[in-house]
Amino acid sequence: MEEKVCPLCQGTGWVIEQRSRGPVARRCQCFGQKQVQVLLQQARIPRRYENCTLENYEIHDPSQEDALKISKKFVKNFPAQDIGLLYIGPCGVGKTHLAVAVIRELIIKKGIYCLFYDFRELIRDIQNSYTPESEVSETDILAPVFNCNLLVLDELGAKRPTAWVEETIFYIINSRYNQKRVTIFTSNYLDLEEEPDRRDPYYKKGDESLVDRIGVRLRSRLYEMCKVVNLAGKDYRKAFRQAGYRF
Ligand SMILES: Nc1ncnc2c1ncn2[C@@H]1O[C@H](COP(=O)(O)OP(=O)(O)OP(=O)(O)O)[C@@H](O)[C@H]1O
Ligand SMILES: [Mg+2]
Ligand SMILES: [Zn+2]
Repeated sequence: MEEKVCPLCQGTGWVIEQRSRGPVARRCQCFGQKQVQVLLQQARIPRRYENCTLENYEIHDPSQEDALKISKKFVKNFPAQDIGLLYIGPCGVGKTHLAVAVIRELIIKKGIYCLFYDFRELIRDIQNSYTPESEVSETDILAPVFNCNLLVLDELGAKRPTAWVEETIFYIINSRYNQKRVTIFTSNYLDLEEEPDRRDPYYKKGDESLVDRIGVRLRSRLYEMCKVVNLAGKDYRKAFRQAGYRF
């Protein structure tokens, strides 16, 4: 798509204003819009979730109402608070939807530098960077993960926790913690240290809990870094979409 050159600044991003003291350079109004476009492109939001907003998140369960309220408040207060969120719940209740919606709002409304990463993809990208043919280094991948103002790590614990994975993810999260950088996590795993209730129809993921998947050390960091947001309800993909409920 051909980009139109801004008629106000001819694409320089600056306009000259004549003041009584002489000419003054000022940011053109197109500059902010461009920044937002760049931030949205950099954020790595998966295409499937491009249109997820807080407005189009539907309430089908009381827990979703609470989660939406907490998400809105998070956006409103950002960056004044240094506590992230941990969305926990079964498949298809909108954990990723909410996490993406928060990112999008913060980019569009506040120009915040945000990044979305699927946990498994992050691990894979780091591992791939070690191969001799790789054109990117580990640092290339990790720099934005460390530096962004808000990181979403989706599907925490979705990969088998080898010692290397556990160490790497602890290193990343701990660095962000030390820098007081905010992170949002989503996970399918029960946030319980005791045995999960296997009679619960929503949890069919076997008998592992979040602690089993990410280790005690990391879970303890998460307690300090995040507010836990528990979500329940039906799988939206099954229950509402197939019934022609929306779309
Ligand atoms: N309450 C909701 N209102 C509107 N759309 C929803 C809602 N819940 C889920 N969706 C939509 O359903 C699809 C699945 O939701 P999403 O991927 O966010 O679920 P999830 O909780 O992250 O599931 P998983 O554990 O499988 O990752 C998405 O396209 C999302 O936009
Ligand atoms: Mg998800
Ligand atoms: Zn301009």
